[in-house]
Amino acid sequence: MKVNPMIERDYLLLGVMGDPIGHSKSPAMHHAAITALGLSGAYVPLHIRPEGLRDAIQAVKALGFRGVNVTIPHKVEVMEYLDVVDEGARRIGAVNTIVNDNGKLTGYNTDGIGYVRSLKDEACPNLKGKRIVVFGAGGAARGIIYALTGEEPEKISIVNRTSDKALALAEELSSLADLRGYGEDHAREALSDADVLINTTSVGMFPRVSELPVPAEYIPEGIVVSDLIYNPLKTELLRQSELRQCTVHGGLGMFINQGAYAFEYWTGLKAPVRAMKEAVLTSFRSEV
Ligand code: ATR
Repeated sequence: MKVNPMIERDYLLLGVMGDPIGHSKSPAMHHAAITALGLSGAYVPLHIRPEGLRDAIQAVKALGFRGVNVTIPHKVEVMEYLDVVDEGARRIGAVNTIVNDNGKLTGYNTDGIGYVRSLKDEACPNLKGKRIVVFGAGGAARGIIYALTGEEPEKISIVNRTSDKALALAEELSSLADLRGYGEDHAREALSDADVLINTTSVGMFPRVSELPVPAEYIPEGIVVSDLIYNPLKTELLRQSELRQCTVHGGLGMFINQGAYAFEYWTGLKAPVRAMKEAVLTSFRSEV
């Protein structure tokens, strides 16, 4: 990764575009990164409605932003307005990070790679040869499964309420790994020989915190169980899995690491992950 020479002498302008955007933790997280590295710059929340997205992306160039994150609901549409979309983002079908190289905009997706970095750092250092079960077949699942295929797992089983979506996603990425799709009625069977279970659905998210995406008794004892949800930090799925002696992994690390990769793409500098995580946790605490 090359350090952008502009970074050291110029003001680093960054931001996040979304609708809504008020509750985003990204400004606090990236502000902490800028400060920790002694850079001069800012990361601002930008409330952009869908009809304003095209102009907002043009403004990235006009205003000299080094880059932006894009979040819900813009991750798919934004691809139309970029000069280059990186291969991974194209296969995932969504962009969450844009880098501005003197007017040339390139789109990346750091969600999946951020997730995998966090899973390996915090719960499962080696995914090679592992049997992985992913619950859900939506946008989040796509990014994660794409990134997981790079880790050479033995197989990835996708289990989804709507079985057709699981089958279609497994088929679409089948050239990259041994992928199979199932309906929820096959959850028990898919989990029977699993090493890692990953929940990408919204089941268990605040405020419906007592729900589980799968009956706890289907989860083999002692496996790795990971939940993308970070509100609450420890979901009911993770609580129940701990009772089954599982190694658990929450969604906060994914959020931090997708931001860390984005920061590294913008600056060419190693992201100060610890400072970023501390800022997000502080921001959470100030809400309660
Ligand atoms: P995201 O980008 O967060 O993945 P999404 O694309 O809307 O959001 O996908 C949500 C995923 O959660 C889907 O796999 C969805 O299942 P369906 O494809 O059947 O809709 C899953 N999901 C959401 N609510 C669910 C529920 N109550 N029970 C089971 N699965 C659920």
